[in-house]
Amino acid sequence: MMNGSRFTIHGSRFTIYHARMTERPLLVTGGAGFIGSNFVLQWIAAESAPVVNLDKLTYAGNPANLAGLGNEPRYVFVRGDIADGATVARLLAQYRPRAIVNFAAESHVDRSIHGPADFVETNIVGTFALLEATRAFWSALPQAERSAFRFLHVSSDEVYGSLAAAEPPFTEASAYAPNSPYAASKAASDHLVRSYHRTYGLPTLTTNCSNNYGPYQFPEKLIPLMIVNALAGKPLPVYGDGGNVRDWLYVADHCEAVRLALARGRPGETYNIGGNAERTNLEVVRMICSLLSELKPDPRGPHPSTLITHVPDRPGHDRRYAIDSAKIRGELGWRPREDFDTGLRKTVQWYLDHMAWTGDVMSGAYREWIEINYADR
Ligand code: NAD
Ligand code: DAU
Repeated sequence: MMNGSRFTIHGSRFTIYHARMTERPLLVTGGAGFIGSNFVLQWIAAESAPVVNLDKLTYAGNPANLAGLGNEPRYVFVRGDIADGATVARLLAQYRPRAIVNFAAESHVDRSIHGPADFVETNIVGTFALLEATRAFWSALPQAERSAFRFLHVSSDEVYGSLAAAEPPFTEASAYAPNSPYAASKAASDHLVRSYHRTYGLPTLTTNCSNNYGPYQFPEKLIPLMIVNALAGKPLPVYGDGGNVRDWLYVADHCEAVRLALARGRPGETYNIGGNAERTNLEVVRMICSLLSELKPDPRGPHPSTLITHVPDRPGHDRRYAIDSAKIRGELGWRPREDFDTGLRKTVQWYLDHMAWTGDVMSGAYREWIEINYADR
């Protein structure tokens, strides 16, 4: 049995196993972003295999998210682009990973509306280049290693399009109907991954998850944007009537689901992951406002909810997402640990405790984005 030392991240307990560095690593792409960095932190805390993190460090990538790893000997960071096949091939030859988890993507719907080209480049061309390099590497492995190898592609529920209020949640059998350039680029990447399994036998898995929230989320997305704006006394811009519904999942629960799918998922399958926590955007923003007035009361200032401002809607705005996660629950025994109340409380507290992190990521590039996206709103 391995010796382990216990410690805590974001209130969850983990054990670090002192593994030998001879174990074959996991290659994670996009591990400096929101979900990727939460995944790497959780992986290093809970699993024994080392991690190689390939990340291009776009505006959304921040190595400081992983500062908590210190000099962890099982962690290697490589700055690079998944669309650069030569770099990926070199990494695969050098580290000989036993699996790849692909988080790397352009992920923000509003940015895809203003500039879709980067989404096509990373999400489609990049995933294709990663698959091609992986196929060449995997094909040359000995038979036993070929069967044990996994390529897990992290995708979104947005590929299924929008639900009407009375429709049942998306299942793995729901038809693809993406509505934004972001969703279309993720859908295309999912199809490529599927085809590499069907055509070449590459042992792939695809996970389609609902909206994540939690520590290290870039403050362009709804929940951190509202926290940051409310703390600064700025308007809280709610698109349209605020009645759009998302199914929220705490990021650590998504990361656990990915780890389970990697360990026990059936190659060629897709798994939907969701929190069973449908809320309208207005409900979410109001909850954030009341948590802020409880956790950081400002007796002299207005209640944060007075900052809520309805602004023109997002073009093509999907009305509702909801995920049926019965398959991953039934087959792999996955259950989220947080509900929306506990997860949102933790998240608001995390942002209150990490205002220096938020200040650092809100660079000049971030401020330019806010000018572009909210100029006419
Ligand atoms: P993010 O934007 O916070 O992070 C993306 C990361 O990928 C960044 O570190 C960035 O530097 C890196 N990256 C971008 N282009 C790259 C490239 N060409 N090569 C290498 N690295 C590159 O995104 P996120 O919210 O953490 O999402 C991660 C993945 O999960 C994405 O594939 C996204 O589609 C998917 N997803 C996100 C959510 C959500 O709610 N955020 C929900 C379901 C699925
Ligand atoms: O469903 C999974 C998807 O969730 C992921 O695939 C995406 O990568 C992720 O960004 C997220 O997409 P959304 O578009 O749902 O997330 P976003 O935080 O941008 O918006 C959530 C909802 O809040 C959406 O209905 C739009 C609304 N919104 C968003 C912003 C930024 C506002 O009303 N005002 C805002 O300023």
